[in-house]
Amino acid sequence: MRAAILEAVGTPIEIGDVDLRGPRAGEVLVRIVACGVCHSDLSVIDGSFPSPLPVVLGHEAAGIVWEIGSDVTTVAPGDKVVLTPLPPCGRCYFCTRGQTTLCATWGSSLFTSLLADGTSPLSRNGDIVYRGLATAAWAEQAIMPEAGVVKVDDDVPLETACVLGCAVQTGVGAVLNTAGVEEGATVLVLGAGGIGIAVTQGARLAAASRIIVSDPVAERREAALGFGATDVIDPTDADPAAVALELTGGIGVDYAFEAAGQASLIELGIAATRSGGTIVCVGAPPLDQGISIPMAVAFTSTEKRLVGCLLGSVHSQRDIPRFLALWRAGRLDLDGMITSRMPLAQTEAAIDRLRNREGIRTVLTVG
Ligand SMILES: NC(=O)c1ccc[n+]([C@@H]2O[C@H](COP(=O)([O-])OP(=O)(O)OC[C@H]3O[C@@H](n4cnc5c(N)ncnc54)[C@H](O)[C@@H]3O)[C@@H](O)[C@H]2O)c1
Ligand SMILES: [Zn+2]
Ligand SMILES: [Zn+2]
Repeated sequence: MRAAILEAVGTPIEIGDVDLRGPRAGEVLVRIVACGVCHSDLSVIDGSFPSPLPVVLGHEAAGIVWEIGSDVTTVAPGDKVVLTPLPPCGRCYFCTRGQTTLCATWGSSLFTSLLADGTSPLSRNGDIVYRGLATAAWAEQAIMPEAGVVKVDDDVPLETACVLGCAVQTGVGAVLNTAGVEEGATVLVLGAGGIGIAVTQGARLAAASRIIVSDPVAERREAALGFGATDVIDPTDADPAAVALELTGGIGVDYAFEAAGQASLIELGIAATRSGGTIVCVGAPPLDQGISIPMAVAFTSTEKRLVGCLLGSVHSQRDIPRFLALWRAGRLDLDGMITSRMPLAQTEAAIDRLRNREGIRTVLTVG
């Protein structure tokens, strides 16, 4: 099959042929229809999130079930599905506590670029090709564990629904699941790319009273206003923490979300958040970036909470149908997040759009 392959860090993606084996017990072979381009893919390409190579990336996908392995009972060939990079095994320590994005069986696939059994379903001339970000969906087909596909209704357009796979699960999940933002709360969102826009929409769904969005790109600040932002900040022009304090009567926001992938913005979020408030780390900063809390006692005595967030702490089998229901009700805008669609052959140009911060989400159409 055709796939977009990263051969070496920092080199352009090339379209080429790779082999994909058929589905084994408990697995599903999906014909990919569409797959978004996320900054986490770019982080592998530029080396800030290392993966073994060569690798096929793409982890925000939707498609049609083509073939099922033995023991697969919840989907059948022909079903439309949204793929999810962090499926629950349902049985491990974390899954049984409802923290399915931390699944002990499937969670490591994100970091190893392998299936849970330590192999890859992809190869080329007999040599291994890695399954990037636990999906490898910048390709005509993908192998997923059964729990890694979520069946959707026949009338759902897959070239739109694909953004549920990462951006929407992550951003909306960060608000509704990780943070549990309550009605009337004040929210600061740092970064208005695909993830930040989804956080903004999540805050609107949660009926936050103030949704303050910071991004240096004017077009993205403008877009944020259409997705529920009440105030926007250009961080090159004003200190977002100072503005957030001013807009909340000197108290600070109830919740701050780092959605740009820069560790220093976590520190900014801590400064902008009120005593007792919550800072949610959604962005994935490069491995060499850390944060410091210089006067730790101030953190102690202000009872702030700093929490990590992996894929919006979702339970995909519950949340993808839930978010689609909100989309049907007109309360979650998926179509508006997709600012361009390009064929798989133009993967490198689509990545350039992400690098250059053009539009919000670019989706590769495959089928
Ligand atoms: N936690 C998770 O499970 C998860 C899931 C998906 C993506 N991510 C991460 O989330 C981050 C965002 O992903 P994306 O696809 O939206 O990326 P993106 O590149 O589309 O958006 C990032 C945005 O941050 C903005 N930004 C840059 N500097 C800023 C600053 N100083 N203040 C405010 N905004 C600033 C950029 O202008 C851009 O609009 C990445 O680090 C990505 O790896 C995490
Ligand atoms: Zn992603
Ligand atoms: Zn599990």
